[in-house]
Amino acid sequence: MSCRATRGRRTLVALMAAAAAALGTPAVAQTPPPAQQTPPAQQSRPGPDYWQPDWMVRELWGPGRMPKGMMTRLLRHTTYMNYGVPTDYDGARSPLAPGPETTARGARIYATQCASCHGKDGLGDGDAENAVSPSPALLAFMIRRPISIDEYLLWSISDGGAQFQSAMPAFRDKLSRDEIWAVIAYMRAGFPQVGTDEKK
Ligand code: HEC
Repeated sequence: MSCRATRGRRTLVALMAAAAAALGTPAVAQTPPPAQQTPPAQQSRPGPDYWQPDWMVRELWGPGRMPKGMMTRLLRHTTYMNYGVPTDYDGARSPLAPGPETTARGARIYATQCASCHGKDGLGDGDAENAVSPSPALLAFMIRRPISIDEYLLWSISDGGAQFQSAMPAFRDKLSRDEIWAVIAYMRAGFPQVGTDEKK
């Protein structure tokens, strides 16, 4: 190592020592305590990441940590994606023509059979006594997802959630298949406020 470099380093060390000594003097001792000087933790974060928002990170939703409702929904959806529906519903298509009459019919059924749990607008905000776990699905949202085709909805509503340990009732013996198609048509129409005298 050259002599000049060594001297340069010595000067630097001396300067640092002087600075440390200066910091130790009473005049500088009035600076705020270290806790206040530490920059807030969030400053090191890059800001919102729309592809991996906070509520979606694996640590929150990963296996073992996922809320029961989310797990049940995943199970229902994965079961369908992997195995389809029982033969009774396989490939079923709604025979009902969409229109105001069908929608009004579905609205009445929805109001009496579904709203108490799923909420009158399908937002999962039914009566407090039906605050079940897993929670009632947000039908207004899921009805717009690609999974919500005829056979899937017919199966979900007919067979209910017993196989997934959820409180979703089986409507197989409670409603006719036509009535189930009417409710489906009503949900697809966007839960409008029509023919809903029974609605709260
Ligand atoms: C006692 C409360 C209750 C009632 C009444 C009820 N549901 Fe549900 N429903 C649930 C719960 C809880 C879930 C979520 C768990 C599951 O998927 O089984 C659910 C799930 C569903 C799903 C599946 C959603 C998805 O994410 O795939 C559909 C479709 C559905 N309900 C439609 C209906 C319709 C239509 C009616 C009325 C004919 C109705 N439900 C009545 C509690 C209820």
